[in-house]
Amino acid sequence: MEKQLTGTLVLAVCAAALGSLQYGYGIGVINAPQKVIEQHYARALGFPEPDEHANATLPSDEDDEEVQAQKSALIMYWSLSVAMFPVGGIVSSFLVGFVADFRGRVKGMLVMNLVSLAASLLMGLAKLGSPHVMVITGRTIMGFYCGLSSGLVPMYIGEIAPVKYRGALGTLHQLGVVTGILISQILGLDFLLGNDEMWHVLLGLSGVITVLQSLLLPFCPESPRYLYIKLGKKEEACRSLKRLKGEYDTSKDMAEMQKEKEEAMKEARVSIWRLLRAQQYRQQLFLALMLHLSQQFSGINAIFYYSTAIFHSAGVAQPVYATIGVGVVNTIFTLLSVVLVDRAGRRTLMLIGLGGMCCCAVGMTVGLVYQNTYSWMSYLSMTAIFLFVSFFEIGPGPIPWFIVAELFSQGPRPAAIALAGFCNWTSNFMVGMFFPYIEQLCKMYVFIIFVVLLFGFTVFTCLRVPETKGKTFKEIAALFQKKLPAERSMVETELQQLKGTSEA
Ligand code: GLC
Repeated sequence: MEKQLTGTLVLAVCAAALGSLQYGYGIGVINAPQKVIEQHYARALGFPEPDEHANATLPSDEDDEEVQAQKSALIMYWSLSVAMFPVGGIVSSFLVGFVADFRGRVKGMLVMNLVSLAASLLMGLAKLGSPHVMVITGRTIMGFYCGLSSGLVPMYIGEIAPVKYRGALGTLHQLGVVTGILISQILGLDFLLGNDEMWHVLLGLSGVITVLQSLLLPFCPESPRYLYIKLGKKEEACRSLKRLKGEYDTSKDMAEMQKEKEEAMKEARVSIWRLLRAQQYRQQLFLALMLHLSQQFSGINAIFYYSTAIFHSAGVAQPVYATIGVGVVNTIFTLLSVVLVDRAGRRTLMLIGLGGMCCCAVGMTVGLVYQNTYSWMSYLSMTAIFLFVSFFEIGPGPIPWFIVAELFSQGPRPAAIALAGFCNWTSNFMVGMFFPYIEQLCKMYVFIIFVVLLFGFTVFTCLRVPETKGKTFKEIAALFQKKLPAERSMVETELQQLKGTSEA
């Protein structure tokens, strides 16, 4: 009798999830210390130092031309420090399949740790050189690492998890991400590391997670699916299964993998280029990309990258603590989603999440616009931001990451994951890069853009996203073969049944 949850399995899943933790740390770390780092950049560039108050960096009509140009340059360096992280991710998302198959999932994660170590060192030593150059380069390389880990970790966990726990263990990726965000927010507190002396340590600290993961990974078994389906190494796959599940009769699992191997051999591996052109996958692909676009263009990372500044302009007295509150709420609601996703279903949770976020973005706008008229409006903005994040983690946060694998069969799956990752990271970049500029333009009306986008995504989900909960891959594929939205095909089936009854 297999044990299912062994110490080795827990170790392997936790070791892998340290990669997701680094991803989250990279997202959250840049938020709180914005002001101190900007001051360092200004010092290194010989610009006047921006003062502590929010938006002091923005050029104003009272500044002379030179100061205006310097302030604009500072905004650019800061935007690049934030946004080069997803640029690294955009590039590496295409390489996930290659790294995973080259020497295996575990060795892939291990070798990639060299990349994240290099990035951590660059940022950790930023005070020794030009801080803006070293931070921007470090963030780009770290993003490159995170693009790979956001593909490799869910893949490895999905492959080693027993069927019974696959859903729960699969969501550990997003849980790792949100925990990483929370840790970075706490360490970013002024009296801990988010200050003038320690900010470089704060940025470089992800190296500790890298070292920890590198020490644990050698004890983790390689994915049995990779060993058997990809390499044909039956003995090694058997040994790996026993390490993961304890001493048991592996014949059932081996037979299942044998079937998957045969299926995989029947279906040609679809390249990214072929996937883009193939008519038969068009609907699924459109859906997968739209779901990833809705995740990023919901504006979630405008909050995660800039919440301290947003809380500041909303008149919150202690914006850093409010930011940590966001991290805590984020983690709690991710846990809730773990429980809900297999009960309520993907479509329902996406609809509730996107619709709720849309209403919250309206609330944020009202709060920002009237904050000078009514002092209590800052509470409205704050509540709206908290609820915005909660709605995100209920559906639009975790679901797009795993639904792509559900929508595609073995052949086109790797290409679909690569394209979805590319789409996710590109839109993440756009939000990180352009949000400060758009905010400068639209001022307190900036969230209206997200209201419009979220409304559109909610309508899209309502009309086009079918439910995949509890369906086999075959049943999901059948939804699309009819080339009709799920609802219409259901209506047609019913009509046909009615016709059949009346003819009889
Ligand atoms: C998801 C998104 C990521 C976002 C995070 C917030 O993982 O992909 O961009 O920052 O959720 O929890």
